[in-house]
Amino acid sequence: MERYIIKGGNPLIGEVVIGGAKNAALGILAAAVMTDGVCKIDNMPNVRDINVLLHAIQEIGASVDRKGPNEVMISGKGINAENLSVDNEYIRKIRAGYYLIGALLGKYKRAEVVLPGGCEIGARPIDQHIKGFRALGATVKIERGMIIAEAEELRGNHIYLDVVSVGATINIMIAASMAVGNTIIENAAKEPHIVDVANFLNSMGANIKGAGTDVIRIKGVEAFHDTEYSIIPDQIEAGTFMMAAAATRGDIVVKNIIPKHMEAISAKLLEIGAEVVESDDAIRVRATHRLKHTQIKTLPYPGFPTDMQPQMAITLGLSTGTSMIVESIFENRFRYVEELCKMGCNFKILDGDTAIITGVEKYRGAKIEAPDLRAGAALVIAGLAAEGYTTITGIGYIQRGYERFEEKLQGLGGLIQKVDSDEEANRFIYDTNNKLK
Ligand code: EPZ
Repeated sequence: MERYIIKGGNPLIGEVVIGGAKNAALGILAAAVMTDGVCKIDNMPNVRDINVLLHAIQEIGASVDRKGPNEVMISGKGINAENLSVDNEYIRKIRAGYYLIGALLGKYKRAEVVLPGGCEIGARPIDQHIKGFRALGATVKIERGMIIAEAEELRGNHIYLDVVSVGATINIMIAASMAVGNTIIENAAKEPHIVDVANFLNSMGANIKGAGTDVIRIKGVEAFHDTEYSIIPDQIEAGTFMMAAAATRGDIVVKNIIPKHMEAISAKLLEIGAEVVESDDAIRVRATHRLKHTQIKTLPYPGFPTDMQPQMAITLGLSTGTSMIVESIFENRFRYVEELCKMGCNFKILDGDTAIITGVEKYRGAKIEAPDLRAGAALVIAGLAAEGYTTITGIGYIQRGYERFEEKLQGLGGLIQKVDSDEEANRFIYDTNNKLK
């Protein structure tokens, strides 16, 4: 079974280049099928969720021409409008297949897409997506595990989202970009990837204003044209490496990022005593001593991202004093705590949504399992900061969202390797090169 083996204790030091934003790319690749022209998209992260979505796009007849690991040409020209059904064993496991509802409904006025999967971090309802499609004039039903949406015509409308939802904002924005007339989405999510999907749609000829604020105004257009687009850097991948510097008491320059997107994370690192130095497209994080405690509540952007909660918690688990984290977005995002406790952490979970963290001097290496994508990455950082060897199974989750994760960590001096068997794991353990610096 594929797993990571880690020898902890090395501070991570050096430079790391961040790839394109997975959660922007998922919206962008789905929206790309709306043009019969050609979309050339680069800075695309080469991760499992992206490859699953590209495969699904190909299965409905769109052309997908990979020019390299991070560049793709997509055209929706070959899509068979008579068969707009998206289902296969892989797409069922990811969340973002549902952006194909917005895209196909917008262009062909019909879509049939399997119910979404994704990380088990909460109930994750899709009522706001459905509410939005219905407001645009579609009928939406769920039958045989499929979401079926259709409309004679999509008409712009005024939509107020009851909860701030990244997925619903993107999905409604995509569908409305080809509706007749004007749509206003109020209480919209403001994450950088919302802006990126809007910019991509605009580059194909859409007319979307206000993305990045809580009111998005969309004037529907009839058709989209060719475009060339480069996806923004991944805020969460960047934040994960910033936290890796803090937790291992290292010194990392995180490059090819937009520092503005990192403000909530940088502010918390500064508050707990790390050095954080911004330049135009990079941030250096350095921690020379044990960091301090703090309090955090996860919130929609520009608040502290829920996708950074486990990585931050792992850092606070090694800090002085008692910290508190309130998870306000998803109900089930502390599943990693049981695993981290095998490494000697001191966490108490109250009411399911609050972690009281008493810092310990060190984690100890252990055999643990990644429960989801971000928690998996966080546990890898814990392993790198720990004394001794850590083995992490369930790393398929991590590969869903981090490109060449272990290679990038190795480039920073992390002693980590992906292995398939006990034999390979033993070889790693007895390799004399794996000495701590
Ligand atoms: C996106 O999920 C991301 N996924 C998540 O990243 C991320 O954690 C999340 O946004 C929050 O930033 C993708 O972009 C593919 P939401 P999404 O809709 O769109 C509730 C990762 O690790 N809600 O913003 O599913 C929902 O239950 C993943 O990369 C409704 O009630 O999140 C949650 O409490 C994990 N009804 C809150 O809104 C709805 O119709 C925010 O969810 C939709 C959401």
